Amino acid sequence: MKKVIVLGSLNMDLTIQCVDLPKNGETINGSDFFVNPGGKGGNQAVAAAKLGAETHMIANIGNDVFGEQLLEALQGYGVHTEGVFRDAHETSGVAMIIRSHGDNRIILGNGANHTLPEAAFVEMLQKLARKDDIFLTQLENDYALVRNALRHAKQAGMYTMLNPAPARVLDSDVYEHLDLIVVNQSECELLTGIYPSDEDSCMEAMHSFEARGVDALITLGTHGSMCNAFGRYLFVPAQKVETVDTTGAGDSFIGALCSCLSRDVDMKEAMEFATRVAALTVTRRGAQASIPYKKEVEHYFKEEN
Ligand code: RIB
Repeated sequence: MKKVIVLGSLNMDLTIQCVDLPKNGETINGSDFFVNPGGKGGNQAVAAAKLGAETHMIANIGNDVFGEQLLEALQGYGVHTEGVFRDAHETSGVAMIIRSHGDNRIILGNGANHTLPEAAFVEMLQKLARKDDIFLTQLENDYALVRNALRHAKQAGMYTMLNPAPARVLDSDVYEHLDLIVVNQSECELLTGIYPSDEDSCMEAMHSFEARGVDALITLGTHGSMCNAFGRYLFVPAQKVETVDTTGAGDSFIGALCSCLSRDVDMKEAMEFATRVAALTVTRRGAQASIPYKKEVEHYFKEEN
């Protein structure tokens, strides 16, 4: 089995529900406030680990109680944490999440996610990485670090994956060192100028990534996901479920995909499994806490069927 190595963010999510978002200068009442471990990197690593992959996290926490709790959560979910460093002079990453009308809006406090030294990353990667292992990262760490990290991972012979969230324009060398990009509709539009809303626009967007030498997987929310990878075009429809909280659903999809790829599962099967995982994730509240274990996924969909 291949290892999954995630370079990514760890955030403590402070999350609250409201009916309508407050207007400028307005104070409103919210409900169902809770605090729980999140961060795109952390969520994706937890998903891969809960779903059976040997998963290693490379990240940075601050010198505070949130940092301790973020580290403990990863360990509790079975993620290897020898690559989690601590910045004595920074706070840990936080995310203020407002849930409203079945969706969310997030404000990030980057904290230690943006101060992980490249030398520490490189040393850890050299220690952990073997040829063909999977390297997964996002854009919640310092962009220069992510950019160089992809180069290091590719040079180590790894299969490299990027979830470019939060979205930003990428330099051309990022694509050079990338095997698979996983984007949602808005990230896809920012990177290609094409909003993928139907088969034709998805194909056009995937060709645009193909022209940069990269396979692409586009998640289409309640419609499903499309991908061109390993020379095949694939579409998998979404599962219909009752949405409670969408936080971390995309992350659970990506982590699940990695857990399958680490076992060389066929891409179509991997997408179908990731779709079921993301569906179950949105039926629960929270980020890392809402991501199911493999047994729960099997049990839930057996019952559903
Ligand atoms: O993708 C969801 C995640 O985005 C949350 O857990 C939050 O921490 C932000 O990083």
